[in-house]
Amino acid sequence: MPAIILVGTQWGDEGKGRVVDWLARDINIVARFNGGDNAGHTVVAQGHKLGLHLVPSGILHPHVVCLIGAGVVVNPQQLVAEIDRLAALGVDVSPARLKLSAAAHIILPTHRALDGAREAARGGDAIGTTRRGIGPVYADKAARINLRAGDMADPESFSERVAEVVSLHNRRLEEEYGLPPLPPAQIAAEYCACARRLSSHLVDGSALVGEALAAGQTILCEGAQGLLLDLDHGTYPYVTSSSTIAGGALTGLGFGPRYVSRVIGVAKAYTTRVGAGPFPTEIFDETGERIRQVGGEYGTTTGRPRRCGWLDLAILRYAARVNGLDEFALTKLDVLSGLKRIKVAVAYERAGVRTEYFPAEFGARALSEWRPVYEELPGWEEEISRVRSRAELPAAARDYIALIEEQVGIPVTFIGVGPERDQAIT
Ligand code: GDP
Ligand code: IMO
Ligand code: MG
Repeated sequence: MPAIILVGTQWGDEGKGRVVDWLARDINIVARFNGGDNAGHTVVAQGHKLGLHLVPSGILHPHVVCLIGAGVVVNPQQLVAEIDRLAALGVDVSPARLKLSAAAHIILPTHRALDGAREAARGGDAIGTTRRGIGPVYADKAARINLRAGDMADPESFSERVAEVVSLHNRRLEEEYGLPPLPPAQIAAEYCACARRLSSHLVDGSALVGEALAAGQTILCEGAQGLLLDLDHGTYPYVTSSSTIAGGALTGLGFGPRYVSRVIGVAKAYTTRVGAGPFPTEIFDETGERIRQVGGEYGTTTGRPRRCGWLDLAILRYAARVNGLDEFALTKLDVLSGLKRIKVAVAYERAGVRTEYFPAEFGARALSEWRPVYEELPGWEEEISRVRSRAELPAAARDYIALIEEQVGIPVTFIGVGPERDQAIT
């Protein structure tokens, strides 16, 4: 029957991977629709911590088929490495279970080099990208000069074209950035080997999704990043280069809106951001450091410390509006245990004007003129990682969730109280 869309509502790393893993028990197909190996989605099962970058987070459920959709940008070397890592753990990653859309785009080592070169050239204005080549590859996609996964079906001609595009990129590396070229023949040979490994995973992704929906199967569309990193609706230019919102699932997988039955927004109980750009509720004192330590807020992909801040309800309202959210999955509530007072941004103000929605549309510079309006709530002392029902939560934690539901007008249907599969109130 339906398509369920799951998206991040903040700046990524909300815990999408663990919520997908939890939902996947009732799902036929889990499909990633955007981004590349800039994403790092963590699934913790039976004490094992698994960081997934390209493989959808449903992979640990043997009955689930996983699709890397057309909207994703794929570094074939990373994908092969991830497949090997999962296979070594005994996870079935055969072509019957893991499928790659022929229309997904290919990241080359020179995309990564160009990403790094552009970041270095921006100096103090650097975006703080993951340097995975995301910006350059989506630019080449839009310019209609890029290689696609389907080209790997013929490894020989694929590798010839790889060498051509690498040479093209080399000219830019040398002329624009004064950097040494990368070796086209060697890269072509490496990519030829990847193509031989991956060609059996290639499918018509849109057909797979369309036929499954028509046959009454359930598809979970797994977003990467989050609303405020969205190319169109995030804090531009401090964003990623793909569509991270619910609409991106339709374009990134190729199906129509009438199948969408549920849109789930994953929100952390506080806010984090990796990389540069505006973050109005960022905490700079020891409370921020404490959240970083207790929450383990270090990047899954780059290991960078994440910036930490208070929950921002203007962001969640904006996320509800842009994505048409039905519900929130709220993660990491346990991390707030032990804080005496908890602040929550409930609106923004500029020159006496108030807005309830995060003012992202005019870009990062305009955003700096707005100030968050806070409410302060009492915290709770109790450890909650063993709590499995809302009624057992400390009253202050219940009030915190009630405030979110009241102010945003959307129910919280999942509460994470620890990273393990069963550490949730559902
Ligand atoms: P994603 O990119 O949205 O999938 O999120 P990440 O995996 O990058 O970051 C989320 C981190 O929080 C991971 O290390 C998860 O294991 C962890 N996590 C997820 N939910 C919870 C929770 O409810 N409590 C705690 N303590 N950790 C959680
Ligand atoms: P998941 O899916 C958090 C951030 C980078 C940088 C900006 C642009 O795990 O939530 P890019 O490499 O995409 O050009 O970097 O976006 N970023 C993420 N931050 N979680 C992610 O993914 C991210 N993917 C990219 O830190 O600020
Ligand atoms: Mg992540």
